[in-house]
Amino acid sequence: MITILISPQDIYTGPLILVNRQHPCRLQEEKLPLLPVQQGSSIQLCAKATLALQKLLQYIGAQQDIAAVSGWRSLVEQQQIWRQSLDDSGLEFTQQYVALPGCSEHQTGWAIDLGYDHGVIDFIRPAFPHSGICQTFREQAAAFGFIERYPQGKEAVTGIAYEPWHFRYIGVPHAAILVERGFTLEEYVAFLRQYPYGEESLVWQKAGSSYEISFLEIKRPCTVHLPEHCQISGNNVDGMIVTVERGICCG
Ligand code: DAL
Ligand code: ZN
Repeated sequence: MITILISPQDIYTGPLILVNRQHPCRLQEEKLPLLPVQQGSSIQLCAKATLALQKLLQYIGAQQDIAAVSGWRSLVEQQQIWRQSLDDSGLEFTQQYVALPGCSEHQTGWAIDLGYDHGVIDFIRPAFPHSGICQTFREQAAAFGFIERYPQGKEAVTGIAYEPWHFRYIGVPHAAILVERGFTLEEYVAFLRQYPYGEESLVWQKAGSSYEISFLEIKRPCTVHLPEHCQISGNNVDGMIVTVERGICCG
């Protein structure tokens, strides 16, 4: 077991943070562990997401066909994009496709817009077709920890229009569970509340790995004892999501 001190500030960091209009980004941008998505690129993600993206692109052989269009954005950049979109396309379009400054998950460093790298790439709505290499990316994404964050039919839940180009890193095994159950991140974070840490957990097994996932509500600084091989992430709402890898399972 390891013992760690968790403070309410920890709720706001980690790959499972939910960022939307109701839950603004509370991260300190100068402290993000950003890494360019490829050598020399000005587009950056949190290091874990960059490494997962590189592995995925390499696995499917898509380095020449899929371009990173937009990764981490500062608050100032999100404000500029919002204003530019208002000028170019009006309020209705902007509210559909650009998150309110302060409430964009691009500010977290866990989100990336991708475009099919042939011809002109639109910055706000890059083409990422449901065919060819882009579809292969989509099909493999969850195994590398990425989800389609704004699916079709869930606009009322996410508050954002369908964005087939916007991928969000939430990590393994969460991406696979979310996809399997057809959840948005809003729904997944709410769903995990029924598994209070130390009482119940969601057990997920695949390809020889077994995981136990639970939710730890944080109201004040506290000390918790956690198993080794454990990952914790804030949910940006009210607590931490604890993921314990139990190693090889036989089933
Ligand atoms: N396009 C997404 C919603 C953003 O601006 O964060
Ligand atoms: Zn995006």
